[in-house]
Amino acid sequence: MELEHAVHARRSIRLFHADRAVPRADVVAALELARLAPSNSNSQPWHLVFASGAARGRLVSALLAEARVREPENTPLPTEFDSSRYALGEQLYGSLGIAREDALGRRRAVEFNWRFYNAPLAGIVCMDRRLHHVDSLGVGMFLQTFLLGLSARGLGSCVQVLIAGFPHVVREVLAIPDSYEILCGVAIGYAVEDFPANNLDVARKPADECAIFVDQ
Ligand SMILES: Cc1cc2nc3c(=O)[nH]c(=O)nc-3n(C[C@H](O)[C@H](O)[C@H](O)COP(=O)(O)O)c2cc1C
Repeated sequence: MELEHAVHARRSIRLFHADRAVPRADVVAALELARLAPSNSNSQPWHLVFASGAARGRLVSALLAEARVREPENTPLPTEFDSSRYALGEQLYGSLGIAREDALGRRRAVEFNWRFYNAPLAGIVCMDRRLHHVDSLGVGMFLQTFLLGLSARGLGSCVQVLIAGFPHVVREVLAIPDSYEILCGVAIGYAVEDFPANNLDVARKPADECAIFVDQ
C-alpha cells in the first residue's frame, strides 16, 4: 500500500518554493532506490547532473537567453496525439486562468519551464549516446522510481522534455560531455501546495485500453 500511495501522490509540480533548499540526503536516498531499476543487460544507462545555487542560476540565465532568440529543438508529438496534448493544455492553462486565445499567457506559462518552475534543484537526465531507444526504457524506469522516492520524502518534481530542446546550452553550462545525450530535465523542490496547477488530476486512459490479453 505504501507503494500505491506514493504512485497516487506524485503529480507534476509547476511552482516550487524557490527558497526551500532540497536536502541532498533525500535526493541521495531517492537515487539509492532508483538505481535498483531494471535495465537492458543491466547496462544502467542513466546519468543525472544536478545544478543548484549559482550553477542553477547560470543554467536558467543561459536557457532564458537562448529562448529569447530561437525556438527549442524538441521533436513535436505526432498529430495523432494532439487530443491528449490539447486536453492537458486546457486543464493546465484553465487552472491558471489562462484562456485558450491568450497566446501570450500560454507562452509565458511555457517559458516558466526555463526557470525549472522556480525549483531550487535542476536535474538533467542523460544517457550514453551510443545506447539505443530500448535503453531509454531503463532510464525511464530509473526516473519513475527516483520521482516516487522524492515524493515519499515530501519532495515534488516535474519531468521537463523542453529542457532538452537546447542541448548545447545545457551541455556548455554544466560541462556535460558530448558522449551523453540529454533526454530531459527534472525540476525538484517543495511544492507550493495551494497553486492550482500543482493539484491537477490529469486523466489517464483506463487499464483496459492500456493492454489486451490474448488467451487463445
Ligand atoms: C518524458 C516527459 C516529458 C515531460 N515534459 C514536460 C515539460 O517539458 N514541461 C512540463 O511542464 N511537463 C512535462 N512533463 C509532465 C507531463 O505533462 C505530465 O507527466 C503528464 O501531463 C501527466 O501529469 P502528472 O505528471 O501530473 O501525473 C513531462 C513528462 C514526461 C514523462
